Amino acid sequence: MCGIFGVITNQEIPIGKIALEGIKRLEYRGYDSVGIVSQHEGKLFIKKDAGKIDEVHKKLKLDDFPGKVAIAHTRWATHGAPTKVNSHPHTNCTNNIAVVHNGIIENFMTLKKELIRNGHKFRSDTDTEVIPHLIEDKMKEGLDLKESIIEVLKICKGSYGLAILHLDLPDAIIVVRKESPLVIGIEPGKTTYCASDIPAFLPLTRICYILEDCEMAILRAGEVDFFNINTSEKIEKKSQQIEWSIDAAEKGGYKHFMLKEIYEQPTALRQTLKISEDEMKTFAQILLSAENIYITGAGTSLFASLAGKFIISRFLGKFIQAIECSELKIQLKDCLKENSVIIALSQSGETIDTIEAIRWAKKTQNVKILSITNIVGSSITRYSDHVIITRAGPEIGVAATKTYACQVLTLGLISLEIAKLRKQENEEEIQQYEKALKSTPQIIEAFLENNINLIKNTVKNLEKHSNYFFLARGISIGIAKEGGLKLKEVACRFIEGYSAASAKHGPIALVRKNFPIVFIAPPDETYERLIGNVMEFKARGGKIISFVVESDKKITELSDITIRIPQPGNKYFNLFSPITFIPALQLLAYYTAIFHNLNPDKPMNLSKTVTVH
Ligand code: G6P
Repeated sequence: MCGIFGVITNQEIPIGKIALEGIKRLEYRGYDSVGIVSQHEGKLFIKKDAGKIDEVHKKLKLDDFPGKVAIAHTRWATHGAPTKVNSHPHTNCTNNIAVVHNGIIENFMTLKKELIRNGHKFRSDTDTEVIPHLIEDKMKEGLDLKESIIEVLKICKGSYGLAILHLDLPDAIIVVRKESPLVIGIEPGKTTYCASDIPAFLPLTRICYILEDCEMAILRAGEVDFFNINTSEKIEKKSQQIEWSIDAAEKGGYKHFMLKEIYEQPTALRQTLKISEDEMKTFAQILLSAENIYITGAGTSLFASLAGKFIISRFLGKFIQAIECSELKIQLKDCLKENSVIIALSQSGETIDTIEAIRWAKKTQNVKILSITNIVGSSITRYSDHVIITRAGPEIGVAATKTYACQVLTLGLISLEIAKLRKQENEEEIQQYEKALKSTPQIIEAFLENNINLIKNTVKNLEKHSNYFFLARGISIGIAKEGGLKLKEVACRFIEGYSAASAKHGPIALVRKNFPIVFIAPPDETYERLIGNVMEFKARGGKIISFVVESDKKITELSDITIRIPQPGNKYFNLFSPITFIPALQLLAYYTAIFHNLNPDKPMNLSKTVTVH
């Protein structure tokens, strides 16, 4: 969940500035504390403190470091409070080894006790600090740095992306990974970078290597060597060219990444529409021959799967069960059958609970894993039988926006392939659905062009409220949950995203005059019943905010505020409303955060990539 960045060069470039800018581009991974260390003329130079990067930079001038090699860390605290001493980098007793770490050393307590018995002095409460001390011990036994790290990792249980500096090896950074992501960027002959994610070095180079589990890399200026840590042997790896545009990881003219990424949705969807039909067909064929189908993910990806299960079963004619990834094993342990398929959704491709779920299912019953992710080479791609990479481009805002839309669109494209193969609908009918799906970018564009003031006024109207219900029926329950999640994440409001029918079995007890209730109401087969639910809440004084299509009349009449999505009110467009309705809800969350002076890019306590259970 933390972010790590490293740079080593033979060029005359400001190493502190590069390290600071690199780690800032990873701040979405955690912002409890930040630290940078460089080495120069036989000394380590360390600056670190608790707080967001800009705050710490103001105090410590994080862009000012001597030398040509540096590693940096931005932390999402797990072991030890977010304090200065617990900030990375961590060093050993003799201060000649510095380590930054993303992951968890699960057996650190036992290792720490042993090290303390042997005379080591610890400064922090972190699990990471055992690593430099253990390396120090191994080197005392006569091993070199590389071999010492390999030996230390044999006794450390858990997950890691590590970057390590040692004063005896002034022209190298050693990095190693297990379960936590690490990528290497290179400007051949000049500068080498390491990072938890590609956007960190995207403005600097597009040539990249993806480190796999149990691989080590020794980075030198403009060069890199790879090793397998189980055998210690050198391995060859092929570099990849990153296709993301250079400005993709920058804010452009936008105040926040979240806003930029909301506005990028039409482009992201158009790019995703270009994915080849063959890739969709492969998924479609596997789903057609599966007996049991599960769809899984966490957070926004889970809510995308709530929409996706409706869209796919519409044409597949089979029930698809959506299960939260952390629950999948416990719920299926006694009933997972061989001819099952799991569709796994993950923006990052690194969410540990999603990875664990699919690895368990594969091992237990050899079920087929079909994954949809936004990140080439991410962990999920290694554990899947087939993968579709969405083309949203890098998403930096902690709250997922454009990647949700692209996930649902991909599921829509798969569903159309299913329809074509299954031939239950006539061709003309399928074409109508296809047309609706392909219109999603235009509908969103039209909405974004004309409705910002309405959203801002709605935010103002709701300024005093900190509790909301987000209600819907059928396919729109997923939209309600995702829209509510956005408001919760970035604007710190309390939301219950719920089935409108079930809301009278409990939640309605909370409704008093002006309690805000958001209804997601495309005119599908649930619409007439939803009217009844709106009336139940209105009768109790609730303030009704409804998201409807352009031509809507009935729910509009019952609503205090109506936000209209510019799309036709027919079954073709209704099916893909989880894509077209969501930008309006994302904007509601964004502007509520702004209204309350909250930074929507850095919600409290959250991290974009969750690599702990
Ligand atoms: C975290 C992020 C969410 C994200 C979820 C799943 O909670 O803050 O924005 O939806 O993880 O992440 P994934 O990368 O698997 O989609």
